Amino acid sequence: MAADGGSDKGISRRSFLDVALGGAGLAWLGAVLYPVFEYFKVPAQGEAEPTTVVAASFKSLKPNEGRVFRFGSEPAILVLTSEGKLKAFSAACTHLGCTVQYRPDVQRIWCACHNGMYDLNGRNIAGPPPRPLDEYKVALKGDDVVVSKA
Ligand code: FES
Repeated sequence: MAADGGSDKGISRRSFLDVALGGAGLAWLGAVLYPVFEYFKVPAQGEAEPTTVVAASFKSLKPNEGRVFRFGSEPAILVLTSEGKLKAFSAACTHLGCTVQYRPDVQRIWCACHNGMYDLNGRNIAGPPPRPLDEYKVALKGDDVVVSKA
């Protein structure tokens, strides 16, 4: 205990300042080093996106039917038209990315989010979508409907 009564206070004040400055220094160092560490960190190896997928069995499709399937991590849509033509597109609406669906009643691809409409060539024909859907290539290999990114 100090005789002057202020020395304990002085030491604790000094200790507090040491801790506070040390903490601030560590925080500053972390703020500087974290982005550097993130920059040099080896990125995790994600699964490569496929360029070709089997979308469906042809026998399972009916004319005037659409089916959403996964193309890697993206949704895609396969349509067998009333005339028997196979068409495939990205199913991500070009407006805000909602997944589109096939409307057999109007034979169009429709986005329920904001009533966007596409024809069977993927062209945006009504509503807010600003551009056509990305079209994919479709081929039959035996009974497999094979879809490829063009
Ligand atoms: S997200 Fe499809 S119309 Fe808006």
